Amino acid sequence: MKLLVTGGAGFIGSNFVMYMLEKHPDYQIINVDALTYAGNLENLKSIEGNANHTFVKADITDAKAMSELVQQGVDVIVNFAAESHVDRSILEPDVFVKTNVLGTQVLLDAAKRHGVTKFVQVSTDEVYGTLGETGLFTEESPLQPNSPYSSSKAGGDLLVRAYHETYGLNVNITRCSNNYGPYQFPEKLIPLMIQNALNNKQLPVYGDGLNVRDWLFVKDHCSAIDLVIHKGQPGEVYNVGGNNERNNLQVVRAILEELGKPESLITYVKDRPGHDRRYAIDASKITRELGWQPEYQYESGIKETIRWYLANPEWMERVTSGAYQDYFQTQYKDR
Ligand code: NAD
Ligand code: DAU
Repeated sequence: MKLLVTGGAGFIGSNFVMYMLEKHPDYQIINVDALTYAGNLENLKSIEGNANHTFVKADITDAKAMSELVQQGVDVIVNFAAESHVDRSILEPDVFVKTNVLGTQVLLDAAKRHGVTKFVQVSTDEVYGTLGETGLFTEESPLQPNSPYSSSKAGGDLLVRAYHETYGLNVNITRCSNNYGPYQFPEKLIPLMIQNALNNKQLPVYGDGLNVRDWLFVKDHCSAIDLVIHKGQPGEVYNVGGNNERNNLQVVRAILEELGKPESLITYVKDRPGHDRRYAIDASKITRELGWQPEYQYESGIKETIRWYLANPEWMERVTSGAYQDYFQTQYKDR
């Protein structure tokens, strides 16, 4: 099988490429990534020289480049490439629309033109909006995105649906909850808090710290996508979640405890505008229909993640130099 994986130098994409090469050593992967601030070839070091992996630096909004890649006999496209950070989408929504909406349409068009057998859109539970204290998102929940990021992901999802309904393209959409694990860029909650705690810097908790997320170890997300590629039924959406609801303060306190750092590092800062209160996923469809089960327990997954960041200080040092510092000055300046 020949896969075109987009965004494969980012957090989940790089974990997925490594997972697939190990699980299916005979598959060929073309990995296309524009290498934005979030893309990092260093994430792929362990597969350097693997003849079944080809990296191409290109932008998914470039129709000519995507068409040329897809016509190299690609069977399946897995689209991870996206602008992925909610806070950045509040500062600069335009690039989110360009990559997450237009980029998805460009890839769908290339898939349709060159007879790709399946298109998998890696989406997010954030397209469903927010929950109150009870309830779970199912695949039938209405799309009610609240941030420019989640709206642009919902826009991409709707185009995927339209290419199935209108042109008969074989598609699947996965909607996953919050991932954590190695190689996550330290603008997201868990790696940011690990990094700040290690440097004895303040840990900025938004609002009252009681917003709830459902956490899933990245390798469990990879195994879900692998199953969807092979067994997903045409046009179906599959929710993916860890059944690990935690509020942000619980997550941050556990990191401090694991690192032996004081709770006095926690600083409450101004809330994120439009901050979704709670996400929780009903993942029973993918379990029932495709046989997916998460393997990692949250407590051990977090410990493994912390150990990875402790063992890779050079990775952290390189990704947090330069533009990273400028971003954080803008992001937290009025908070
Ligand atoms: P990430 O920001 O770490 O990686 C995104 C990758 O896409 C980067 O390598 C970047 O260089 C690349 N990219 C961005 N714009 C591009 C463009 N125009 N053309 C080509 N490449 C481009 O993101 P992530 O956390 O790994 O998320 C991957 C996907 O999974 C996204 O689609 C995201 O919406 C989805 N998702 C993420 C989570 C999560 O918790 N991180 C949960 C559910 C779904
Ligand atoms: O639910 C899936 C989504 O999870 C993905 O689609 C997104 O790509 C991914 O970024 C993530 O979105 P969140 O907004 O939930 O993740 P983030 O790590 O930015 O924030 C998690 C929670 O922590 C959220 O309630 C905001 C809070 N937070 C975050 C940061 C960066 C803080 O309190 N302080 C912070 O400094």
